[in-house]
Parts: sequence; structure tokens; C-alpha cells
Amino acid sequence: MRILVIGTGAREHAIARALAADPAVTELHAAPGNPGIGRLATLHPVDMFDGGAVAALAARLGVDLVVVGPEAPLVAGIADAIRAAGIPCFGPSAAAAALEGSKAFAKDVMAAASVPTAMAHVCTTPDQVAEALDSFGAPYVVKDDGLAAGKGVVVTDDRAAALAHAAVCLAKPGGTVVIEEYLDGPEISLFCLSDGVAVVPLEPAQDFKRAFDADAGPNTGGMGAYSPLPWAPADLVEEVLDRVARPTIEEMHRRGAPFVGVLYCGLALTTRGLRVIEFNARFGDPEVQSVLARLETPLGRLLLATATGNLSDEPPLRWRNDAAVTVVLASHGYPESPRTGDPITGVESAEAEAAVHVLHAGTALADGVLVSSGGRVLSVVGVGASLAEARAAAYAGIDLIDLPGSHHRRDIALAASEGE
Ligand code: AMP
Ligand code: GLY
Repeated sequence: MRILVIGTGAREHAIARALAADPAVTELHAAPGNPGIGRLATLHPVDMFDGGAVAALAARLGVDLVVVGPEAPLVAGIADAIRAAGIPCFGPSAAAAALEGSKAFAKDVMAAASVPTAMAHVCTTPDQVAEALDSFGAPYVVKDDGLAAGKGVVVTDDRAAALAHAAVCLAKPGGTVVIEEYLDGPEISLFCLSDGVAVVPLEPAQDFKRAFDADAGPNTGGMGAYSPLPWAPADLVEEVLDRVARPTIEEMHRRGAPFVGVLYCGLALTTRGLRVIEFNARFGDPEVQSVLARLETPLGRLLLATATGNLSDEPPLRWRNDAAVTVVLASHGYPESPRTGDPITGVESAEAEAAVHVLHAGTALADGVLVSSGGRVLSVVGVGASLAEARAAAYAGIDLIDLPGSHHRRDIALAASEGE
């Protein structure tokens, strides 16, 4: 099987790593990729927002499958271009990726499918926003309707700050904001593969979105993640399948926009029960780094079956008994103003540790030297028989890596590893 992976992050490096470990995968390509992915796959400098160019590359390489990592090309229609060229694609059409691309659309689908989620008002004027904020009260939850690379959501007790964020969103062309009821309780991420009809869940994971320890600081793309979740209710996955994933996949099918790829269910376990916080149309980063570190089933065949409508023929997934913890190394100034161009050393020493692997995100090679080129620079993944062992491995790895001015959280999976 020949596979082309689209993307540049640690999520795509994790996917490429799992594909490279699948004996059925004979040839691995990536576009545009990164230096870490380049050690596993042949890299092609193609613009991932140019669906035609990606489809042409896939055709020229004769690949059996294209796996699209990030949301923005999906929302822009990359999967439609690839399928139009007759090539199977793991990733939803633009119409189906609207589940992530428009929060108002996602709310509409959830309402139609009776999926539990936060009550919400879709607003297009400041007056509507003010009224919606006052109807729910603090804490206020204000979401940009469209894709905002992790910067679209503000949760605050400060009414003026809520209004200010809404004003910024409304000022964009077609500006729409969603004002939501605040959801309490722990958050989990559950990735559900779907070929448009069948639904197969992976194991749940938890992400750490805030920049600093103890959930202080601004929201980020994600500073770390772990799986499994020893504290989660035993029937959690079944409940999410029954009340969230299957009804959503059925509703998308009914609307003539079947969802093919991974439906990322971002969930809150509130005092009043399970609620969807958001849907995404791709794997979560860094959660998937931890989830794929535990998946024993070969990934290539699984993603091909998802892309080609054959998911119901697949045997049940197999998982290692291990736990996995991912810690993100972020550059100086991330998330507000990440500094780039700093030298990265120690990656090889970290990888020499048993039970540690290092995935690249914002890295580049400058005259043969590995340097930072983005906000989230590396994901260091540790595996072990318990979360405590996996944490110890991940932090042993990260402590061997040097990136001037970098920061990372020290408390990823700490509470869960202590039985909380
Ligand atoms: P989203 O982009 O929708 O995932 O939102 C980013 C983060 O904002 C989530 O992971 C939550 O931590 C927080 N958030 C979003 N919606 C809500 C809500 N209704 N109540 C409380 N927190 C929320
Ligand atoms: N880890 C959150 C996300 O990928 O959106």
C-alpha cells in the first residue's frame, strides 16, 4: 500500500510513524511534512491548500490512499479534489468538514440529531450578543463561528472582555459568533472513525489546553495529552457512540454530506451529564500522539477501510495495555508571539531512552541544524505500564532536550496518574 500524508505537525508525524510501522505500507509520502516526518517518508513541497496540486501529486505517485491531517485544507475542500481524481481519501468533504468549520452548522446538526450540547445563541450583531450573554450569565462563553486556529473561543467572567471578543469576531467578513451556556466538568476527546455509515471509536484521551501548569494562562492548541483515562466512567465510549457519534454520522448521511474520516468529539462530563463542546473533522493534536502510541491494529489498513466504505468489515481494534503521555515543548513566547530560529539539541538522546519517542511539529533544518520554526515545536511521547511510568518516560525525554527559552507543562497527566 502506498500512502500520502498531508500536513506539517506532530499529529501528522504520529500518523506517519504508525503507518511506517504497518507492514502493509510499502511506500510512504508526505506533503509538505517536516524534518521528523522526512525520516520516515519522502517529502514533497506541495501547498496543502491547493487541492488540485495535492490530487495531481497523489495521482503521479500512484498512491492508494491520501490521509489529510489538518482541518483548514479539509474545510477548503482538499478531500473533494482528491476523490474527484479517483483516489481514496481519509478526511471529510468540505460539506462534511463544516461540522468543524462552522460552529453554527454543528449546532444545527446536533439539534436535528438530538445530540446533547451546550445551549447556544447564534449572533450577528452586538445587541444580540449582549442579550445572549445576559440570558446565560457568567461565566461567558464566546465562540467565533469559523476556524480560528485555537484562538476562537473565550471563556471569561468579564462581560466587557466577552463583548470585546465578540466584536472582533463580528468585524470579520460574514462575522458570526456563538454564545453558549458554560459547561462545567472534565473534558475528554474521543476520536470516532467513520466511513460515512459505520462508526468505530478509538480510546478516549484528555488534552491540556492552557499554556501553564494548573491550567493557568491562555488557551493553546494543546500542551499535552494522555490516554487511557482511568477515571472515566466504564460506559463512556458506549454512551458517546449512542448519543453523539452515531446520530451525528446518520444526520450527515441524511443531509447528503456523509462524513468520511475521523469525527473528533470534544466532550464535557458535566454535573448534568454528557455534553458536546465541539466537533472537529480531524484527529486532535496532541491527543492522537498518545492514542496512536497505544494502538496495536495496523493503521494503514484501518484508514484505507475508513476511506473506502469498508469499516464494518474490520476486526475489532486491538490496544496495548500501556499508557501513553505526550508533553509538548513550546517555543519562547508561545502562544502569543512564538520565537523561531532557536537551535534544538538533545532529540537523539531523548529518543535513545527506552519508551520515548519524539515527534516534530514546528521544526526546520537550517544548514543541517535543527531549529524551531513554530509555536509548538516537539511532542515528546512516553509509554509505560501505568500513567505514572509513561509520565516518567515523557519527562525523562523532555529533560534531555534543549531549546533556548522554551517552555512546557510539568503537570501533564499528573492528577490522573495519582488516581484523581
Ligand atoms: P472549542 O474550540 O470549542 O473546543 O473551545 C476551546 C476550549 O474552550 C474548550 O476545550 C473548553 O475548554 C472551552 N470551552 C468551549 N466551550 C465551552 C463551554 N460551553 N463551557 C465551558 N468551556 C468551554
Ligand atoms: N487538541 C485540541 C485540538 O486538536 O483541537
